[in-house]
This record gives sequence, C-alpha cells and structure tokens, in this order.
Amino acid sequence: MPKPPHPISPIGLVDGAVPLARHDPAIGPGLLTVKLALFMRDVIAIDTSPAMVDMLQQKEIDNVTSTCVDIDDPAVRSAPWFGEFDLIVASSVCSFLPNYETTLGLLARALRTTGYFVQWDWLASVVQEFGLTLDRVTQAFENADLSRVHIGKAFAAASEDREKPVLIAVAQI
Ligand SMILES: C[S@@+](CC[C@H](N)C(=O)[O-])C[C@H]1O[C@@H](n2cnc3c(N)ncnc32)[C@H](O)[C@@H]1O
Repeated sequence: MPKPPHPISPIGLVDGAVPLARHDPAIGPGLLTVKLALFMRDVIAIDTSPAMVDMLQQKEIDNVTSTCVDIDDPAVRSAPWFGEFDLIVASSVCSFLPNYETTLGLLARALRTTGYFVQWDWLASVVQEFGLTLDRVTQAFENADLSRVHIGKAFAAASEDREKPVLIAVAQI
C-alpha cells in the first residue's frame, strides 16, 4: 500500500513500563507503533519509560522516532517533532495521566485541522472506578475544542473474574 504523500506524524505512546505487563503477550514493546509505521510516513512514539523507548529503538524501524518524554512537560510544545500531526493515538494512556483534560488540550493543539485524535482506555461506569467515563471523555473533548467523531464502548476484554469494557474515542478539531 503506498504511503501518504504528506508527513503523517502520530504520537504512538509505546508499550507499558510496568513489569506486570511484561509477561502479558498482549502488551509487547512498541507493537502498536510497529503497525502504525506500516501505513504512515513518519511516526513519533513517546513514553516516559526509557526501557520501553529502548526496546522500540532496538527494532530500528526507519520511519519511527521514539523518544523518552513526559507528554505533560511544557517543553514538549517546543520539541521539533511537536508539529502538525495528522493523527495522534493514545492507547491505554489517558487513564494514567494525572490531568487528562489538560493534556488533551495540549494534544489537540498539536493536530492539523484535518487531523484525528484517537484514544482507547478502560471504560468506567462511575468516576470512582479506574478508567474514564463516557461523560468525562465527552466533556474533555468539548473543553479541548475537539469535535467528537465517535465515543463509545468498543468491546469488552475478559479478565479473571469479569469482563472489562473498553472505550474508543475519536475526535477532530
Ligand atoms: C498501560 S501502558 C499502555 C502502553 C501501550 N500504549 C499499550 O497500548 O499497550 C501506559 C503507558 O503510558 C505511559 N505514560 C503514562 N503517562 C505518560 C506521560 N505523561 N507521558 C508519556 N507517557 C506516559 C507509561 O509509561 C506506559 O508505558
């Protein structure tokens, strides 16, 4: 498949830093980024975990730049790669951010006017649960001046004692 002619620079937050996740075959280092790189001209993958960034760098994918950075760091705004992204993907990251709403505002400003923001997270039914509620994501998109394309439960993942619902949300400026 030919790659798009113009630069597409998603932030693919690379795979989990938590040792817990290491033995989980569903969470491998940079798996999502590897797949995105097949279809994108340029991919910027970031994570606060040096170990995860190292693992992705070892894959030596030509069109992937992986960097260890905290997306909440104000310096991110002046990073050379913080350009006009066509796609920003946050896979199971937003629930872990100390201030999801503020970070989302920052990411929204990094998108081109035609760009898309995509996130998926555990879906919480009430705010006390870990994850994000549909209301919270909807409100956060509004606050960040993002138009929702889709917000909803995508599927449920089986865990030890119950099914855990997963939300997928897609937005544009
Ligand atoms: C649950 S893991 C998800 C990993 C992977 N994206 C996936 O879908 O399997 C959450 C990841 O987000 C990263 N992370 C959390 N807060 C971050 C931040 N403020 N800036 C950059 N990365 C962050 C963590 O280091 C961790 O690797």
